[in-house]
Amino acid sequence: MTNILCIGAGYVGGPTMAVIASHCPEHRVVVVDINEARIAAWQSDKLPIYEPGLDEVVRVGLNRNLFFDSEVDRHIDEADIIFVSVNTPTKTFGQGAGRAADLQYWEKTARQILRNSTTSKIVVEKSTLPVRTAEAMEQILNYNSKGLHFDVISNPEFLAEGTAVQDMENPDRVLVGGKESPSGQKAIQTIVDIYAHWVPREHILTTNLWSSELSKLAANAYLAQRISSINAISALCEKTGADVNEVAHAIGLDSRIGSRFLRASVGFGGSCFKKDILNLVYLCETYGLHEVASYWEHVVEMNEHQQARFVSNMILALFNTIAGKRIALFGAAFKANTSDTRESPALTVCRGLLEEHAQVVMSDPHALDNARVDLGDQADQVIFELDPYVAAEGAHAIAIMTEWSQYKELDYQAIFASMVKPAFIFDGRNILDHKRLYEIGFNVHAIGKPPLVHSNYLA
Ligand code: NAD
Ligand code: UGA
Repeated sequence: MTNILCIGAGYVGGPTMAVIASHCPEHRVVVVDINEARIAAWQSDKLPIYEPGLDEVVRVGLNRNLFFDSEVDRHIDEADIIFVSVNTPTKTFGQGAGRAADLQYWEKTARQILRNSTTSKIVVEKSTLPVRTAEAMEQILNYNSKGLHFDVISNPEFLAEGTAVQDMENPDRVLVGGKESPSGQKAIQTIVDIYAHWVPREHILTTNLWSSELSKLAANAYLAQRISSINAISALCEKTGADVNEVAHAIGLDSRIGSRFLRASVGFGGSCFKKDILNLVYLCETYGLHEVASYWEHVVEMNEHQQARFVSNMILALFNTIAGKRIALFGAAFKANTSDTRESPALTVCRGLLEEHAQVVMSDPHALDNARVDLGDQADQVIFELDPYVAAEGAHAIAIMTEWSQYKELDYQAIFASMVKPAFIFDGRNILDHKRLYEIGFNVHAIGKPPLVHSNYLA
């Protein structure tokens, strides 16, 4: 039996350890977190995060070989392998503020591991980190008078929220980076053996530490870049009469480009894309690679532009004033099938509308609690409404912010009847049947498509 500990029971720590525990019944997996409420929720019927399939996989291992606890120190020494999946937010102060990763929690965790250890261990970087963090980690851990040796392994996580369980069960690849030394190679093999319980060996890559750390940042930067690229094209489509869905389809059929991650939208959200690109930008600047830094920074700038453009288009279409107008936002989560609202475009759009004194009603099937928290003081100015029909009642406009499948199935005829006329729909995810909505009577504005507007409006 191997004792596995994971420090950090968030969106990554919880699901990844639940999947490991379900496939490795002979190993004992403990997940710890300083957030007691989160730990209690992992042990309850209502998990702290919404993820399809997660309840089932947690239930397989819970209290069999999967345990959650808030006493971090207590479990460190008994562990053979410690995964660290604490948050690595963007620094908000001092050098690199707004760009660099804030590594204070990370370093504290390393020191905490050392303080509580009496045996040597493998420490796995699961969080996303700047390249060469493992070097600092090794120095802190191995500079000890206890005669202990720690092997630091990089095993970045590539799961996407909303499909976390599926992505873990069936990963495109698992990446394990470590040192060339014999003990480094042995540590790599130990981690590979865990994943080999369910992942085909040819999908498990082993690399040096720095390649592994950088591959994670590069993968997120590439994915985000594809979205910013298609969103840049969407702006041009709106000016020229081209349809971004048709363009995306046409270019995506080129096997060198590929069809995935070409969905034009109100912008990408989530806790990682922006943070990780800015982290990459800061790294490049640190190494004096200013042009490279600026290249990647534009991906984030384009994303911010897309969200601002969406709000401007709404104001323009709504006769240049939205003050006092009820506007229903369908969706608060940064993508479908998650309750996560971190960096969600829905919140950015909401703030933009509030600045114009609109009356915003936000609806979402799973993310309203998080939206309320993430909006902070501004939450008081927003009406939160679970039922989209109620949210739309008396509204001048609906804006689709999240691609929840249920929004495609709503009775838009009834919704139209309950709205102020002329009634508008702004489809920030291009998921609705625009022609049908237009036929019902809506003025329809989608991303990267010519608007469908009734010129002689009859209520
Ligand atoms: P999260 O905020 O959901 O979870 C992190 C958890 O760590 C929190 O619950 C926090 O209380 C806990 N924590 C912080 N310091 C601690 C300490 N000293 N001891 C014990 N617990 C501590 O974050 P997340 O979304 O799970 O992301 C974690 C890391 O994984 C980040 O580096 C992120 O970039 C990366 N990542 C995230 C995703 C994703 O989909 N969210 C995917 C891949 C990689
Ligand atoms: C992303 C990556 O896909 C994961 O591989 C990575 O592990 C993770 O970041 C991370 O490091 O945190 P995630 O942010 O959970 O996963 O979700 P994505 O599916 O990548 O979507 C991110 C954002 O881009 C969402 O707002 C989504 O709606 C948007 N998006 C995605 C588009 O606007 N268009 C697309 O074509 C695809």
